[in-house]
Amino acid sequence: MRSRLKGTIQPTSRETRHAVASYPSARKAQQDHDNFDTNSPGLWAKPLAKPVCARFLHCMNKRATVVEITDLHKSYAQLEVLKGINLSAAVGEVVTLIGSSGSGKSTLLRCINMLEVPERGSVRIAGEEIRLVGNAHGRRPADEGQIRRIRSELGMVFQQFNLWSHLSILDNVMEAPLVVQKRNRAEVREEAMAMLGKVGIADKADRYPSQLSGGQQQRAAIARALCINPKVMLFDEPTSALDPELEQEVVQVIQLLAEEGRTMVLVTHDMNLARTISSKVVFLHKGLIEEDGTSDEVFGATKSARLRQFLAAAGH
Ligand SMILES: Nc1ncnc2c1ncn2[C@@H]1O[C@H](COP(=O)(O)OP(=O)(O)OP(=O)(O)O)[C@@H](O)[C@H]1O
Ligand SMILES: [Mg+2]
Repeated sequence: MRSRLKGTIQPTSRETRHAVASYPSARKAQQDHDNFDTNSPGLWAKPLAKPVCARFLHCMNKRATVVEITDLHKSYAQLEVLKGINLSAAVGEVVTLIGSSGSGKSTLLRCINMLEVPERGSVRIAGEEIRLVGNAHGRRPADEGQIRRIRSELGMVFQQFNLWSHLSILDNVMEAPLVVQKRNRAEVREEAMAMLGKVGIADKADRYPSQLSGGQQQRAAIARALCINPKVMLFDEPTSALDPELEQEVVQVIQLLAEEGRTMVLVTHDMNLARTISSKVVFLHKGLIEEDGTSDEVFGATKSARLRQFLAAAGH
């Protein structure tokens, strides 16, 4: 069971309520966002939106593995970054990667969606192995169609928000479901508004990224990733480009997603977040998993001297 989370999301403004009033699903999501109490006793404290809940319960019964990484090796020229990583995330788990700068956290995340191709090892998403051909540095995807399809099932959120500057926030969120997944516009619009409501910025739907704060842009990026209905959310330092106050807005959204039972692989330097949110914490050191375990094990009964040193430097 996850630890209890601290803090409560602040209710949004009257302006927001008015703006979302014309979208029932956005209104419902915005209310959920406003009412979300991060002190709630656990995963089942709040009723979930029906489709998510039904799908989640179905998957939870099986405890299916969503991400499975086996013996992963990745190097850049002479630099061996990942030296044999085994990692898995089951449905509803939040797996958090921690480690010092350069330890290979982003590289590992980028191997999950094949933005980087590993020289050795395999990646499975929801039981399907990503097929690679060739050897060592010549290794490459066997089927670009498979890569595109699998990528369209992974929600990526980066440190830099990577929103399209020429598109409104709503169009940013609708882009992938319309263009990649070729879904119905009206249905996608309804869902996109609901996702914007969920992250608390439905009133910003018609604005452009440059008109939003960093925290709002990152929440828009999260809504965009959610709108493809991903099997897993991959976060790479989602809060590290933000001021502490804006950081909290994003942290609270990530906590909300964890409470909903979203499967996530999260890279973060925020040890408070790692401690409160994680089903499993993985400490990477020089391309290897130096220690992993539950939050209580890793933070409360640390075994590795290197991890102790790392946590002490981070103030833990
Ligand atoms: N495309 C690349 N070409 C060459 N070297 C790279 C490339 N990407 C990463 N590296 C190197 O690989 C190592 C691991 O980088 P990575 O970005 O995975 O670290 P990280 O743990 O995410 O660090 P940080 O906490 O600073 O984000 C670093 O030494 C980095 O310089
Ligand atoms: Mg990184």
